This record gives sequence, C-alpha cells and structure tokens, in this order.
Amino acid sequence: MDSLDIRETEIFDLFRKKWALVSAGTPEKCNGCTVGWGSFGTLWTRPGTSGSVVTVYLHPARYTCEVLQAHETFTVSFFPEKYRAALGYMGSHSGRDGDKAAAAGLTPVPIGDSVTYREAEMTFLCRKVYQHPFEKEGLAPEIGEYYRSHPKAYPPDGDGEWQPHWIFVGEILRTEGGLGCPEAEGRS
Ligand SMILES: Cc1cc2nc3c(=O)[nH]c(=O)nc-3n(C[C@H](O)[C@H](O)[C@H](O)COP(=O)(O)O)c2cc1C
Repeated sequence: MDSLDIRETEIFDLFRKKWALVSAGTPEKCNGCTVGWGSFGTLWTRPGTSGSVVTVYLHPARYTCEVLQAHETFTVSFFPEKYRAALGYMGSHSGRDGDKAAAAGLTPVPIGDSVTYREAEMTFLCRKVYQHPFEKEGLAPEIGEYYRSHPKAYPPDGDGEWQPHWIFVGEILRTEGGLGCPEAEGRS
C-alpha cells in the first residue's frame, strides 16, 4: 500500500465517494461491477504475508458475485475522476446482458492471472482468502429491514426472501499505480 497517499485521500472516502471496480477473470472473459462498500485492513498476518487485505461486499444478485466465487484472484481498481460516468455505467448494467466494459469505454488488461483496466489509476491484485454470505441471524435488525425495504437494489431470492451480501476477503498480492499517479493519468 506504499503508493496510497493518505495525505491526499481520506481513507473512508475511497470506496464511499470515489467508488471502485471489483473484477475477476481474464481480459478475454471477465466481469466487474462498481462498489461503494469496501474495507482495507490487516488480517491473518503470518510468516511470509503482511496480512494486508481488501474486503469487498457483493450482493448475490450481481453477476460479479458469481464470477468472484469462481476465481481464486480478483482485483479492486480505482479510477481518475473523469471515469465517473464509466463507473456509473458499470454499476447500473449487468455483465449478464453484454460486454459492459466496452460499452463503458474501459479496456480490460491482464494483471497477474486476473484483470484490471488500462484506465485505472490504482489496482489491488488480491488472492481470495475468504468468501461467504453474511449470516442473516448475526445482522442487527435494522440491517435486515434495510434489505427488506430496498428490494430493487437487493433483489430477493427465488422464494421471495431478502438476501444479504457476500463477503470476499482478498490478501493483497500486488498494488499497481497510485491515486493521482501522473503515469496512470497518461495511460488513459
Ligand atoms: C456507486 C455504486 C456503488 C455500488 N456498490 C455496490 C457494492 O458495494 N456492492 C454490490 O453488490 N453492488 C454495488 N453496486 C451495484 C452493482 O454495481 C450493480 O448492481 C451492477 O450493475 C452489477 O453488475 P453485474 O451484474 O455485472 O455484476 C453499486 C452501484 C453503484 C452505482
């Protein structure tokens, strides 16, 4: 995380205000979606790993949730402000319905055995170390109510029951670029 300049960026604004794309697959066959929820932290530090992790939360209705479940690695990519509309597009269309990266004007490129985008200014390449849905019983009552009252954003399952997000914890294998990094701006 050396390239993250926290003097310039409020850490809590990263996901909430800047948004990111979470993606998995290869440039030829991949999918990604916009996320506004995510966490950086330290977990399962052990010999040979720093324990630096990034955690994302995907609702099971997202195609990207399915794609992450099927891959051992995933990426979390941040973009310069000029790609706000592209992120809006990736967050309001499903990869089930077509090549939305192309439609959004984003170019998938390889990173490790996963995928990011040429237009990204910073990408975290992650090895998935945990995936599981939140346990409904463990959620505070108002969180369940939040899901129940937003069925359009969080579609219910086949039985009409609300469903919570899945948690994906990724051990950071590599960080490419940096926020506001001039070379990254040049790449677009
Ligand atoms: C600003 C923004 C933030 C979002 N944050 C999340 C999120 O954190 N988790 C999630 O599951 N969906 C989130 N979404 C919704 C998905 O990006 C959206 O449903 C997307 O179309 C799913 O695409 P897919 O079916 O190709 O995966 C967000 C959408 C927007 C516009």
